[in-house]
This record gives sequence, C-alpha cells and structure tokens, in this order.
Amino acid sequence: MCTTNCPKNRKALTRNADLTTVERELVLASWHASSFAYMPYSKFPVGAALLAENDEGETRVFTGCNVENASYGGTICAERTAILKAISEGYRKLKAIAVVCAKIPGGSPCGLCRQVIREFGGLDGIVLTVQNREGDVTRWTVDELLPDSFGPDSL
Ligand code: THU
Repeated sequence: MCTTNCPKNRKALTRNADLTTVERELVLASWHASSFAYMPYSKFPVGAALLAENDEGETRVFTGCNVENASYGGTICAERTAILKAISEGYRKLKAIAVVCAKIPGGSPCGLCRQVIREFGGLDGIVLTVQNREGDVTRWTVDELLPDSFGPDSL
C-alpha cells in the first residue's frame, strides 16, 4: 500500500527488489532524466524512461523530462518527451515506462500522456509510477490507467 497515506493509491506497492532488471533500470533512468527537467514555472521536475522496440525487434531505453514554456500551453510532459524521442527513432512499440515526480514521488501520468502512452503501448504496456526514493513503484497496465480507451484500433 501507499507508504505516504495517499488515498489515490489503490494498488499495492511493488518493491524495487521485486522488479525485473530492466524495470529497475527504467526507474533509475527516470530519476536521472528528471535532473534535466526544464521547469522554471512549476518547479516540478518529472522524469520518464521507457523501453521500446523497433520493427527489427531491437529494444532500447529512451528518457525524457518535462520541458516547460513561457507560453504555458507549450509545455511538454516527461512521458511525451521520452515517447516522441522513441517514435522519431523508429521505436514504436512501447513495452514499459517508468515515471517519477522527483520532488514528490507518487504522481501519475496526466490524461494527455495516458492517451499518448495508449497509442504506442497498447492495452498491455506497463506503467511504473515511482513512489519513493527507494525506487518502489506502483505497476499498472495501460488498460488500468485508461480504461475503455480510444485507440488506433477504434478507427
Ligand atoms: N508533468 C509531467 O511531466 N508529466 C505528467 O504526467 C504530469 C505533469 C509536468 C508538466 C509540468 O511541467 C509540471 O509537471 C507541472 O504540471
């Protein structure tokens, strides 16, 4: 359960030690990516790291941070930064993504990011929301985070 008494957290925590090696790598990489966050307005650093696969079946880790803009609507979240990096390199299959709100762990992807994760992660993609400094996570499927979603197969 949530260690910080946060009512939002409806799922049991997965301990860092119980993650797969690659999931642990994603969690670490998301923390590192958050150190590059450009967030002069919100002062809310977010990092993301995803494992993606290309048509050749090769996998790679891509990272991203939030990038804000003086025209606030121009802000891009960490998750979408990482996903756009992957897609623009030909890695279209999102297998898993870790996200950390570095100052206040326990956050969760915004609605817009959930929809973009849905586009490339299908229903079974894994979303790891980092809950604390120890790198414990809540593990979600895309379908759990965005139930009854609209996706590429809806058209
Ligand atoms: N943010 C993310 O990077 N990902 C999310 O899923 C939620 C919000 C960023 C956007 C903005 O720079 C800051 O967090 C405050 O909303």
